[in-house]
Amino acid sequence: MGIRIIGTGRCIPDKILNNDDLEKMVDTSDEWIVTRTGIKERHIADDQTSSSDLATVAAKNALENAGITPDMIDLIIVSTVTPDHAFPCTAAIVQRNIGAGNCPCFDMEAACSGLLYAFNTAYGMMSSPLGYKRVLVIGAEKMTSLVDWTDRSTCVLFGDGSAAFVLENDGNPDTPDFYVAGEVAADGNAADILIVPAGGSRNPATIKTVEEKQHFIKMGGPKTFHLAVTSMVNACRNVLEKSGISPDDIVWAIPHQANKRIIDAVAAKLGIPEKVYLNVDRYGNTSSASIGICLDELNREGKIKKGDLILAASFGAGLTWAAMLIRW
Ligand code: ACO
Repeated sequence: MGIRIIGTGRCIPDKILNNDDLEKMVDTSDEWIVTRTGIKERHIADDQTSSSDLATVAAKNALENAGITPDMIDLIIVSTVTPDHAFPCTAAIVQRNIGAGNCPCFDMEAACSGLLYAFNTAYGMMSSPLGYKRVLVIGAEKMTSLVDWTDRSTCVLFGDGSAAFVLENDGNPDTPDFYVAGEVAADGNAADILIVPAGGSRNPATIKTVEEKQHFIKMGGPKTFHLAVTSMVNACRNVLEKSGISPDDIVWAIPHQANKRIIDAVAAKLGIPEKVYLNVDRYGNTSSASIGICLDELNREGKIKKGDLILAASFGAGLTWAAMLIRW
């Protein structure tokens, strides 16, 4: 088919909140946070900045990296759990901001697995009779808009950021696709362990929901931890088996950057600890932006070359999980 990733970009807010800052806000310590999560600092968007603003900058950077203009884009997909509004979709706001004509736009919500869900969706729509030629896939999150800064069990975990990718089908049957193999899955039985309880149609916003802090992230940490490890390991094993690729042939493994202990456990079970890319210490959990930020860093720092095999894996609220094997 000839579907390749031809451009990458990211946007990281300037402001840094480190563990010392958090020590002044809640009863925690740098030692606890680093030992339990591996996070040292996270970047925080200011009050004027929304997810579409973060997405727009990443999209412009990806277009520039690809060497194409916005009018050449046929479809925009934004993965986010922090859309600017219930509607319109964040992707439509990005389309307006970058001047991408009237291409179709939609948001995808699969929490931290959203970017891999979006890659799968884009690849499917490009390979189908719809025949989209160039697609912008974006993961953008202002996670701090969902954080309760008085809840020490969650506020230390999250940060803001975005990443964007231009996919292009060059129409050349001799060009290998970037997409080698993938798996996307979910278990709705675990929907309640990671949830923002209010603000949707189940519990619309009221004074009571605000007073009860029901608009913030509620998480069963240890249960999420366990499910994260098993789901990502199984998904990676399935993808490697489907593709016939040995773990030895992987150049980089990019797990969702939620917690270094989760990443270490997954890498140990797969037997590829030396191949893991880590930046959770600098950004915390940026949900569906996290794998994308890793990929953009690797690309821009020249750490991946054409043909390299990259295994990405994620898990998130839903629970959703996914793994994808990419040939660069
Ligand atoms: N500082 C100090 N102590 C803390 C903090 C903190 N920031 N947070 C919790 N504690 C305390 C708890 O109160 C508890 O104290 P207690 O024993 O007196 O009751 C103790 O530390 C242990 O708490 P646990 O929750 O058992 O700690 P655990 O080792 O499981 O680590 C953590 C917690 C880091 C949240 C871990 O469970 C985890 O990473 N889970 C996965 C979370 C995740 O990855 N979520 C991503 C999904 S995001 C999405 O999809 C949108």
